Amino acid sequence: MENMLVTGGCGFIGSNFIRYLLEESDFSGRVVNVDKLTYAGNPENLSGIENDSPGRYIFIRADIGDQDIMAHLYNDYEIDSICHFAAESHVDRSIVKPDAFIQTNIVGTFSLLELARANQERLQRFHHISTDEVFGSLGTEGFFTEETAYQPNSPYSASKAGSDHLVRAYYKTYGLPITISNCSNNYGPYQFPEKLIPLMILNALEGKPLPVYGDGRHVRDWLYVRDHCSGIWRVMKHGKIGETYNMGGSNEMENIKVVEMICDILDEFQIAADKSSRRDLITFVRDRPGHDRRYAMDFTKLRRTLDWRPEESFESGLRKTIRWYLEHREWVDRVKGGEYQSWIKEQYGRP
Ligand code: NAD
Ligand code: DAU
Repeated sequence: MENMLVTGGCGFIGSNFIRYLLEESDFSGRVVNVDKLTYAGNPENLSGIENDSPGRYIFIRADIGDQDIMAHLYNDYEIDSICHFAAESHVDRSIVKPDAFIQTNIVGTFSLLELARANQERLQRFHHISTDEVFGSLGTEGFFTEETAYQPNSPYSASKAGSDHLVRAYYKTYGLPITISNCSNNYGPYQFPEKLIPLMILNALEGKPLPVYGDGRHVRDWLYVRDHCSGIWRVMKHGKIGETYNMGGSNEMENIKVVEMICDILDEFQIAADKSSRRDLITFVRDRPGHDRRYAMDFTKLRRTLDWRPEESFESGLRKTIRWYLEHREWVDRVKGGEYQSWIKEQYGRP
């Protein structure tokens, strides 16, 4: 793999992956990052990368569904591998307005697959990034495995499930050299502050309410983003073509516990002006429609076959993440000053 097309590389996981690839991994080639720069895409997430990795990073602003541009860049840069992150990624937004989710996640992935199919000679790998949400919800026990039947419950997860099926079908039908990874909830630097962890960190810092959906007892399995990136690279390099791999953090936690931990760490880092506990800001609000109760990933296959496991504990990862947000207030201000503000206002009637 010498010329890797990364889609959605200006988003949260994509930008962490490009940094991991160029700064930490044994990948020695060039990355061509194609990103449409939706509200969630921010080229600043990769600032400095061109200087730090001269000649190894190219950014092109484009929609993955734009067939002309994509065909040109695919040939101009002699693409031989694809890591596909680009997607609409926020469940709440998909409930309010699913259109872009269908367009990018399903139609956009289809378009990318067609491009790859038409130029298959050079292609070594098409890796598709997916989510544990395609499996639906677990009861109090058990784990999702690679054999669990798909049962998506939100427009977001249904659109990701659709894209997973297409990717797999292109392997079965056309022999496209695909792999898929389905991962649990990520957290870490550069995550857009609409998602639970950065939203709670920033609201708590500003003394705003911390809106916990429903009873707060919904369970997610948290994985530090760098661990996800190392897993993706492992699968791209050594994963078996046509196979799917689950990734998770072995880190199940109720949302309320996550929020309480954030409050406690922030209280420890920075005493609030009035010396109150940030836990006092926790506010239970109306539940998300169709809210999945519990996710938990069994990643035995990835551990046994490719020797991958997460390195970061939730406590250490959360501390690193909180420090990152404390030290990057300018990034936060710029991100929050954009389209996000008007969306929040529309949804919640508050800034
Ligand atoms: P994100 O919303 O932070 O980033 C998505 C990126 O894709 C943005 O940079 C955006 O500009 C770009 N994009 C959107 N539509 C595009 C289009 N039509 N053409 C080109 N670029 C486009 O998302 P994220 O959290 O980094 O998630 C990345 C991928 O990982 C997604 O496929 C998501 O489903 C998957 N995933 C996310 C998590 C998680 O916890 N965040 C967990 C498992 C899987
Ligand atoms: O599981 C993987 C998925 O994780 C990814 O596929 C998605 O792209 C990613 O957005 C994430 O989806 P979630 O819906 O789990 O993430 P979110 O951060 O939106 O919510 C996490 C949990 O916290 C969920 O149970 C809903 C709850 N929540 C979320 C927000 C934003 C709250 O209680 N309050 C909030 O304000």
